Amino acid sequence: MKDQARRLAAPDIAARKGGVPVVCLTAYTAPMAQILDAHCDVLLVGDSVGMVLHGMPNTVGVTLEMMILHAQAVMRGSKRAMVVVDMPFGSYEGSPEQAYAAACRVMKETGAQGIKVESGPTVPATIAYLTQRGIPVMGHVGLRPQAALMEGAFKAKGRTVDERERVLAEARASEQAGAFAIVIEGVAEALAREITQAVAIPTIGIGASPACDGQVLVAEDMLGLFDWAPRFVRRYADLKADIDRAAGQYAADVRARQFPGEAETYFGKS
Ligand code: KIV
Repeated sequence: MKDQARRLAAPDIAARKGGVPVVCLTAYTAPMAQILDAHCDVLLVGDSVGMVLHGMPNTVGVTLEMMILHAQAVMRGSKRAMVVVDMPFGSYEGSPEQAYAAACRVMKETGAQGIKVESGPTVPATIAYLTQRGIPVMGHVGLRPQAALMEGAFKAKGRTVDERERVLAEARASEQAGAFAIVIEGVAEALAREITQAVAIPTIGIGASPACDGQVLVAEDMLGLFDWAPRFVRRYADLKADIDRAAGQYAADVRARQFPGEAETYFGKS
């Protein structure tokens, strides 16, 4: 109970508009959440988990059960950060009622402080329906990974005037519907700045320039777990090389009978 009271929640994040930037990273597991918790305001249990941990080609195959399982682990591993859980493809687009039933499962079964939905024509009504019923919602505009199959690829947004107006309108609609913050993904600086100035809630950018009120990255991208990462990612570690080196050393030690050694061996009392 005490730990719960110290956690950041939607009003704390909403109050950061124009202030100290909101720090957000994705987390999918308890040990990673434990490490990131001290540094982040928001831990996002992103549906990117499907691609990052499960090797899926996109996020379309991610299920509600997967999101709940990973969110439970992140909640167990963290104490302070607000935990926001992505609603996966197919769990909220059908109707506000469908979204409410799925979001209630997430909130009750994980104890997370909020959910995130990707934008679309029907989504503002859903955000309004959920927030009016006590579920904090983070919006997500610009590049929408769940639309990858409609668009054929992950494409940056806002290249045409029509597209820029649509993204701006979606951000405004998310705010008016009651979202406490909005992720802006894959848009140019000018559009990110325009959105950030147009809405009174924090914008959290990913590939959306420093003009946003905060930043989010997929933790494994910035930790260097993969050979490839999008251009907007800055690598703060080289985890792939570290793991490769460690596994190679372990294999060599086992083959040379150098592991386990005396320090790693139990000797029974005689
Ligand atoms: O699923 C995810 O990790 C996300 C971030 C990229 C914002 O939605």
